[in-house]
Amino acid sequence: MRAALEHAATAPGAQAERPAKVRVEGVSKAYPGPDGQAVTVLDAVSLAVADGEFLSLVGPSGCGKSTLLRLISGLAPATGGRIVIDGRTVTGPPPGVGFMFQRDTLLPWATVGQNIAVALELNGTPHAARAARIAELLQLLGLARYEHYRPSALSGGMRQRAALGRLLAYGPDLYLLDEPFGALDAMTKMSMGRELLRIWSRDAKSVVFVTHDIEEAVGLSDRVVVMEGPPGRIKREYRIGLPRPRDFREVRLLPEFRQLCEIIWQDLGQTPG
Ligand SMILES: Nc1ncnc2c1ncn2[C@@H]1O[C@H](COP(=O)(O)OP(=O)(O)O)[C@@H](O)[C@H]1O
Ligand SMILES: [Mg+2]
Repeated sequence: MRAALEHAATAPGAQAERPAKVRVEGVSKAYPGPDGQAVTVLDAVSLAVADGEFLSLVGPSGCGKSTLLRLISGLAPATGGRIVIDGRTVTGPPPGVGFMFQRDTLLPWATVGQNIAVALELNGTPHAARAARIAELLQLLGLARYEHYRPSALSGGMRQRAALGRLLAYGPDLYLLDEPFGALDAMTKMSMGRELLRIWSRDAKSVVFVTHDIEEAVGLSDRVVVMEGPPGRIKREYRIGLPRPRDFREVRLLPEFRQLCEIIWQDLGQTPG
């Protein structure tokens, strides 16, 4: 089985065929440790994300996945190397990049609808078109009844859906998603995964998706990058040649899906639970 899928593994940092949306070039990151000594959390990471590519980062907790995503977002500076988006070196949050981190960052004093309205205002959606777009997104995310609720009155999963709705409302060219389905129950996760794939196949935007869920990564992605650490490094990457368009649930029935998941699990040194 391993031999049959060996071609799926490619060298770390291999260039994708399509033009690069993001290039991570020998990026390192160190934080001051408790004793004041610098602790390296990312060590010379190189990676290219093609235009329109759906790429997932997987790896053990603490290997630097979130840190790498934050560096790509421009919210934190790299200690060494550089990150290039659309040919420009990142020095701060670039326009057209939308991120959703592990802890959602909805405005607590605003309702779900108002949170989405802010994103629509930011991307220049005309005032008259905003209400319809908000209604459409809330319908899509199963939040139609919660437009006027504040985040504190929602469940964790609902808050995550609202945060995703806000991101979709903004409509970035590059999505940086850090475990966006982490707090969702299995059924909601499945419908959100389907929805994300549907939107992605329609809009063909680049996505960097961090998860510790191998099946989620394989089901969604064109490529899965396995990280190891700390300090974080890229261990290997797998091209996911499963057919597109893909149904997030039905793709799991394909033998190749199971084989890819198994190989990546083995690579992570764990067995599926
Ligand atoms: N702001 C910070 N200050 C100091 N150390 C940090 C900070 N953010 C992350 N780290 C450290 O960097 C390492 C990688 O963290 P993180 O990127 O969150 O990993 P992952 O997302 O893969 O679980 C961890 O050891 C963590 O303690
Ligand atoms: Mg993380």
